Amino acid sequence: MKIGVIQFEPLFGEVDRNLELAGSLIMKSDADLLVLPELFNTGYVFTSKEEAISLSEQIPQGRTTQMLCDVAKEKGIFIAGGLAEKGGNGIFNSSVLVSPDGYVGRYRKVHLFFEEKLWFDPGDEGFKVYDTGVCKVGIMICFDWFFPESMRALSLMGADIICHPSNLVMSFCQDAMKTRCLENHVFAITANRTGTESRGGKSLHFTGKSQITGPDGRVLFRAGETTEEAGIMEINVNEARSKKVNEYNDLFKDRRSDFYSILTESDR
Ligand code: ACM
Repeated sequence: MKIGVIQFEPLFGEVDRNLELAGSLIMKSDADLLVLPELFNTGYVFTSKEEAISLSEQIPQGRTTQMLCDVAKEKGIFIAGGLAEKGGNGIFNSSVLVSPDGYVGRYRKVHLFFEEKLWFDPGDEGFKVYDTGVCKVGIMICFDWFFPESMRALSLMGADIICHPSNLVMSFCQDAMKTRCLENHVFAITANRTGTESRGGKSLHFTGKSQITGPDGRVLFRAGETTEEAGIMEINVNEARSKKVNEYNDLFKDRRSDFYSILTESDR
């Protein structure tokens, strides 16, 4: 199958323009599964909770999810991408997964970064894995990478490919994803954005370099730092299915959960 990442610069609050640009980049890309950045429809630097509420949308009824469903149907592909979600019980930094048959599911970011804690509620639905028929897809969003438990949980749930919509502002993630993929033996598609957003006296620069990483930790594709581009790779998803390291070691079977109980104790 072919998997791909779409990198561009969303402009804050310009939802029409951002949806149109994302749609046209998707239409030009030849892949079975495409991943867009975090908050690709709105931009990232909110200045108030009211602003986040006013730019949030219901999933799946909102226009962003509906646009993605339309394009996914037209292209016959799966798409994951991030948006601010107006949920019944809060405002979430979410990502949807859509298919040629429509809306599949959503993920609400569990580990909120920096001032996201002022605008969004922490994800309340946990990690989920979706079966596309060809592969199993897990979703995490940006800063979730900093918590190895996110990708471990998705991988133990059977994900072959981790879709990772991102708005990265630090420089560590792309290299860290080599280890995340290696230790779980999965593919990851990290879709980052580019550009700088200056609003309300704050300025954040987004680092580009979107990346597709293989189960052996190799970087299969890395985008430019400032470019608008799509990166597409042909992969054999079966490579993510064996967790064998050698004839004696298996990444999952060798786990010693009896010694990891501290990981599931509540906050320390
Ligand atoms: C991030 O989680 N957007 C850094």
